[in-house]
Amino acid sequence: MSAILAPALLRRLEKSARDAATASYSPYSQFRVGAAVLTGSGRIYSGANIENASYGLCNCAERTAIFTAAAAGERDVQAVVVYTPTPQPTMPCGACRQVINEFGPDALIVSICDSGERLETTLSALLPAAFGPADLLTAEKPKAPAKRRKVR
Ligand code: THU
Repeated sequence: MSAILAPALLRRLEKSARDAATASYSPYSQFRVGAAVLTGSGRIYSGANIENASYGLCNCAERTAIFTAAAAGERDVQAVVVYTPTPQPTMPCGACRQVINEFGPDALIVSICDSGERLETTLSALLPAAFGPADLLTAEKPKAPAKRRKVR
C-alpha cells in the first residue's frame, strides 16, 4: 500500500521541493528540478539536480534528496515529490526510479509544476517487477576456495 498523506504534510513536501529547485546547478540543461523525500521518521529531505561538465555525471534532484536522507541514516522512503518550473509535471527518470525502489518500493510519487497540473502515482506503478535487495538474497553463494599453503 502506498502512503496516503495528510493535505498539510503534502503541502509541506511540495514547498520543500519547490524551494530545493532554487539551488539547482544546471548550467548545461537549464532544466531546474527540486525534490523532497518524506521518510518513515516523518522528516523531510530535499535536493536539486547537480550537473557536471562531464555530462554523464549529472545527478538528478530525486537522487540528491534520497542520498541525503540515506546519509542521515534514513532507510524508509514514504513519498517523493518532484517539482519542475514547467507547464507539465516531470516524472522521475529510470535511474531515479531504481534508486527510490531501494528504500521506498511502495512510495507515493507526486510531480508538480507551474501550472495546476500534477501527477500522483506510486513507485511500483512506475517500476513494476523491480529488481531490488531481495533478489540478491536468492543467489547461490560461491564455494569458498580451498586454502592454499604458504610457500616458503
Ligand atoms: N533531472 C532530474 O533532476 N530529475 C528527473 O527526474 C529528470 C531529469 C535532471 C537531470 C539533468 O540535470 C536535467 O534534469 C536534464 O536532464
